[in-house]
Amino acid sequence: MTTKSAEEEPVSNAGSFLFIGCNPRSQNLCKQEIKQAYPALSPSFSRPGFLTYKVNQTFSERFDLSLTFARTFGWSLQPTQPQSLSELVSEIISAAEQHKAPHVHVWARDWVDHSLEEKSESQQAIETLLGEFRKQKSKLKINAVTRADERVLDVVWGDTDRWWLGWHIAGSIPQRWPGGVPPIQPPESMISRAYLKTREALLWSGIPVNKGTVCAEIGSAPGGSCQRLLELGAQVIAIDPADLAPAISKHANVTHLKMRGRDVPHRALSEVSLLLADSNVAPTHTLDTVEELVSGKQTHFRGLILTLKFTDPKMAREIDVFIQRIKSWGFRFVKTRQLAYGRQEICVMALKQKSARRFSS
Ligand SMILES: C[S@@+](CC[C@H](N)C(=O)[O-])C[C@H]1O[C@@H](n2cnc3c(N)ncnc32)[C@H](O)[C@@H]1O
Repeated sequence: MTTKSAEEEPVSNAGSFLFIGCNPRSQNLCKQEIKQAYPALSPSFSRPGFLTYKVNQTFSERFDLSLTFARTFGWSLQPTQPQSLSELVSEIISAAEQHKAPHVHVWARDWVDHSLEEKSESQQAIETLLGEFRKQKSKLKINAVTRADERVLDVVWGDTDRWWLGWHIAGSIPQRWPGGVPPIQPPESMISRAYLKTREALLWSGIPVNKGTVCAEIGSAPGGSCQRLLELGAQVIAIDPADLAPAISKHANVTHLKMRGRDVPHRALSEVSLLLADSNVAPTHTLDTVEELVSGKQTHFRGLILTLKFTDPKMAREIDVFIQRIKSWGFRFVKTRQLAYGRQEICVMALKQKSARRFSS
């Protein structure tokens, strides 16, 4: 666990509780990762997507957990079972005041990808609560993306009529998003879910894609990810033996190499700054293909965004091995995250230079 702010004095938090939000389907992976990385945290409460831990050490109010499977985290307060909506709102307002939080993030522990599915009980409960806030014309900012280091009161749907309160300081980018999920409005005709995933990966990684940035994606059909890159003005080389959606294949900024990643001639990628991979193959297969391309004299990638699919949950134990392998290619800054819009997979971002200000060639 690291403290990030130089001015902030470490305070004794022994006896306090942390909360950690994760993909409900990856709860066991998240627990396993916490046990390994932070053995001094004692497990307390656990429901799919929401875990609390007792803290037995001293550290700053603003802490950072480097965990692949944690979506968000903060200090846990208490569960509450209010008699009415207005009672819940009053409780939230007074907790926000107490923790000097201008922001309230209301989220559901069971969020998987309800933006595309039928409304669940938790989503309905949240909408009702948000409606109550609007009615009461509260000055609190509800479910807005925060700026860096702002304080947030977390209101987490736990079960029918049961909510958990917590708070955090938005130190990392995902902590600025309600529940660690970036609010993304999909385009009217979204080509595939990978649109959402790539949009989230770019926000999380901070890798800038602008007009003229040259990107290549291995495993690009039907083209949701390309759709996002094109919206940003990129030039895209789409590598996939399968067909792209016509809206992508006909786009003036797209070149389709209808072949497998390992058959691509290196010279075709000589202008590429950002290489993405999203093939439905085992992680080692993806890494072998990328390694072969990265080590060529004609390629000069500055950044990588790789989806590593987990066909078997045991593969999660190999994340450190994957990271070391990518670092050995000269990418000094490597981070991993299970994206909110991803499935049984993790996203790896890798940069040669920490400052990724210019990617355009
Ligand atoms: C999950 S889909 C990719 C979705 C895509 N990124 C999008 O934005 O719509 C996986 C794709 O990987 C492709 N694929 C599998 N093995 C591949 C390989 N060795 N090289 C290139 N593409 C591959 C498949 O043809 C399939 O279209």
